Amino acid sequence: MDPRPFLAVATLLVLSASAASGNVAFQVHSKLKGRERSLSALREHDSRRHGRLLSAVDFHLGGNGNPSDTGLYYAKIGLGSPSKDYYVQVDTGSDILWVSCAGCDRCPTKSSLGIKLEAYDPKSSSTASTVKCDQEYCIYANNGELPGCKSDLLCQYNVVYGDGSSTTGYYVKDQMRLDRVTGNLQSSWTNASVIFGCANKQSGDLGSGEDSAALSGLMGFGQSNTSVLSQLASAGKVKKIFAHCLDSKQGGGIFTIGEVVEPKVKTTALVPNQSHYNVVMKAIEVGGEAIQLGTGILGLFDDEKHAIIDSGTTLVYLPGDIYDSLMSKILAKQSGLKLHTVDEQFTCFEFSEDVDDGFPAVKFQFAGSLDLTAYPHDYLFPISDNKWCFGWMSSSMQSKGKDVILLGDLVLSNKLVVYDLVNQTVGWVDFNCSSSIKVKDEESGATYAVGAHDLSSRAAQVVGRTFTWLLLIPAILYSLPS
Ligand SMILES: *[C@@H]1O[C@H](CO)[C@@H](O)[C@H](O)[C@H]1NC(C)=O
Ligand SMILES: *[C@@H]1O[C@H](CO)[C@@H](O)[C@H](O)[C@H]1NC(C)=O
Ligand SMILES: *[C@@H]1O[C@H](CO)[C@@H](O)[C@H](O)[C@H]1NC(C)=O
Ligand SMILES: *[C@@H]1O[C@H](CO)[C@@H](O)[C@H](O)[C@H]1NC(C)=O
Ligand SMILES: *[C@@H]1O[C@H](CO)[C@@H](O)[C@H](O)[C@H]1NC(C)=O
Repeated sequence: MDPRPFLAVATLLVLSASAASGNVAFQVHSKLKGRERSLSALREHDSRRHGRLLSAVDFHLGGNGNPSDTGLYYAKIGLGSPSKDYYVQVDTGSDILWVSCAGCDRCPTKSSLGIKLEAYDPKSSSTASTVKCDQEYCIYANNGELPGCKSDLLCQYNVVYGDGSSTTGYYVKDQMRLDRVTGNLQSSWTNASVIFGCANKQSGDLGSGEDSAALSGLMGFGQSNTSVLSQLASAGKVKKIFAHCLDSKQGGGIFTIGEVVEPKVKTTALVPNQSHYNVVMKAIEVGGEAIQLGTGILGLFDDEKHAIIDSGTTLVYLPGDIYDSLMSKILAKQSGLKLHTVDEQFTCFEFSEDVDDGFPAVKFQFAGSLDLTAYPHDYLFPISDNKWCFGWMSSSMQSKGKDVILLGDLVLSNKLVVYDLVNQTVGWVDFNCSSSIKVKDEESGATYAVGAHDLSSRAAQVVGRTFTWLLLIPAILYSLPS
């Protein structure tokens, strides 16, 4: 077994929370300086002239949620003029898009995913401009003006992860290439101007390892105004609704912006005023029996539990007491099982029969009578022939003093998950993510089918490399020492 620790990218520290400590404005790079004013003026003029509704957008996905395979899902995006392709992780647990930039110190240049890692170079894009620290976006992204901000200083960003790895750079504005849905399984290229982070320095696991599942960046799909989704919505191009169907069987899946007409999903309300996608969890059943916690009656939790829906996290993290009850209920059905620990973190065992016959399904119940069932083939992942590990992890994450449950790709895969930020709901339904859904084109009112895509390179799927586990969650969840 490879002794290297798993790539555990933990705790996305959103910079706005630490403006005082991490952010400094710095001098603009002279090469870009001269032409910015005129370019941005031109672009604004252009976008007013061609200001058309994008409506539904189709992103192409690759990867899968199996930690012993890819362990993450990524999307291909196009940036700049001429447009170049970048592969970025899709993360509903964070709020900005950033990509590795030319000359970046310790940005990965090779990936085990068999994809080409391109570095974005603002100097080679005719539509690039930098964002200054006194601009509205910068002030919003940093919860106020950066200390020492003078006009012409760049707006810097800095994202720190709990394992100490980080990405730092500055914001740029450029054209993003988007596939507008124009017919059944049809799309056409269109552009939108977006602000994103240009990474000039990375450290820790983010910058390392030729054998790691490295990507060119990360696209945060959180609720904050800084996300690409919010930017497109504020420009009046899309409705603030998006959906993903992550296909853990075939790889890739469906990822769209726009109102989903088919299939219909049952929904639960998002907890108000949370930066991420929090919902209220009421109970958990294992093979039809509720797990009992505290003095809760009828199997309901005795206090309200929040669960966070996060596509940037691979596994599922449960508070210790819930984890213990869940595992003992599952293992009660398989008393002869010999458990062992792999890489000091994962509970694994040998099993030669069909796991779906041998283990119970786990059902999470949410407010609004929405539930989510994780079948054994979802929550167990194979590491080799007849060897399986549990994807449930015990954690002690808290939000406002309350335990938080983090639901990652392990249970979000093979479902259509719809995030409706207009109505402040999230919902899902079991779905074949290799098939297609129907979305609404707001301009014409027509509904069009959007199909699955899989960018994964088959050749890249080497058996036996390091596992990949991601945990992209905001630091705010942890009770940080004060
Ligand atoms: C998108 O932008 C590029 C570069 O500016 C341009 O060449 C292309 O024609 C644009 N495409 C559309 C559909 O606007
Ligand atoms: C975020 O954007 C929306 C429009 O999309 C706007 O109404 C709201 O005021 C913005 N919030 C902030 C804090 O800028
Ligand atoms: C959410 O925040 C808004 C503005 O800060 C406030 O008016 C509202 O009462 C808050 N809602 C809840 C449920 O806390
Ligand atoms: C959002 O809520 C409104 C009012 O309840 C409803 O008419 C609309 O259909 C909902 N939108 C979606 C996408 O469900
Ligand atoms: C899922 O959909 C694809 C494409 O329509 C189809 O080929 C496949 O058989 C379906 N899988 C299942 C399990 O129904």
